[in-house]
Amino acid sequence: MNRPILFLLALLLLPAAAQPDDSRSITLNLPPESLGQWYRPVAKRDVWLHTMFALRREMQAVAEYSALGDSRRLGQWLERLEADYRKIGEMVPEWQDELELELFERMRKAGSPEALARLQRKLRRSCQGCHREYKLVAALRYRTPDFTTVKVESSESMEEETYSAVMKRLTLLVNRVKIASVDGRRKAALDALDALQVRLADLGESCQACHKESAARERILGKAAGDSLTHVRAGIESDDVRSTGRYLGEFAVRVCADCHAIHRLQSDLRRLLSKR
Ligand code: HEC
Ligand code: HEC
Ligand code: HEC
Repeated sequence: MNRPILFLLALLLLPAAAQPDDSRSITLNLPPESLGQWYRPVAKRDVWLHTMFALRREMQAVAEYSALGDSRRLGQWLERLEADYRKIGEMVPEWQDELELELFERMRKAGSPEALARLQRKLRRSCQGCHREYKLVAALRYRTPDFTTVKVESSESMEEETYSAVMKRLTLLVNRVKIASVDGRRKAALDALDALQVRLADLGESCQACHKESAARERILGKAAGDSLTHVRAGIESDDVRSTGRYLGEFAVRVCADCHAIHRLQSDLRRLLSKR
């Protein structure tokens, strides 16, 4: 929440004639397309990420056995480290030239733990260089849930709808409840509320596309959400505009905003980064 506000403030405080300048924008580089094949659903598991975890472990083992003076195990782990480091260029050929492969020959010949540690620091710089540029973008692009492929089945029309379409409909219905209740159109408000509850139940069925357990659904669409809407209904039926508004707001936070904080931000970022 803070950042957009700070950003707006910064804009307001700029002299009116100021042009947008570079300090107000950042550039993100997309990783090469070939990285995508090492992630689900193209791959069976997130092979790339697991290779990275292996690299981190191998770096640690090399440092520890070097310090312990255990040259046999050190040799074994250096071999694994090199093999996995080479895989980077095999998996993503565009990154082949970024690798510091010549360091391994020198690491094998390092005469002391200190010399080896220095070479490992050099290697780590090559890890960090790539991470600075691509790590965040790759994680968002390939490891956040993809809502563009999830369908929600409408229990009225029996048709499958996209998340985006369902969301627009939910927004319309929430606002229709609000408008009709403010203007004392009780029947229109109740009709919209009924439709909203049907749509929410349909949305709830879609959670299981990714969530095997019902806990996630319950947390967002469960009792708390139902209680808010029960109060909204009571408010409409008794023409209590203030109470209706209050509980409709509570519902919007508990259901819409809470789920958006988890899923919509990521989904929007993924969509942005998936543009070619
Ligand atoms: C040419 C690019 C590149 C190089 C070189 C590279 N990585 Fe990575 N690494 C990545 C990308 C991209 C990710 C993000 C993967 C993801 O989150 O799905 C990543 C993620 C990781 C992660 C997971 C990070 C986390 O957030 O927990 C670890 C650990 C890691 N790398 C270790 C290493 C080590 C150790 C080296 C060097 C020996 C290395 N990497 C070299 C590209 C690279
Ligand atoms: C496309 C896949 C996908 C769909 C569909 C989906 N989720 Fe999730 N959800 C995830 C993943 C993956 C995580 C865990 C990591 C994260 O935060 O992205 C998660 C995390 C959550 C969390 C926080 C962790 C937890 O389990 O309490 C909640 C709450 C949640 N989802 C609610 C929902 C609800 C409610 C729905 C249906 C209306 C839903 N999700 C639909 C993929 C999905
Ligand atoms: C799964 C949890 C979840 C719940 C609950 C939820 N949303 Fe969303 N909403 C999303 C996701 C994910 C997107 C992004 C969809 C996409 O990128 O296709 C989204 C997008 C939207 C959008 C933008 C749609 C577009 O494509 O322009 C609106 C508006 C919206 N939601 C309104 C609501 C309202 C109002 C509620 C509450 C009545 C609500 N949402 C409840 C997850 C949720």
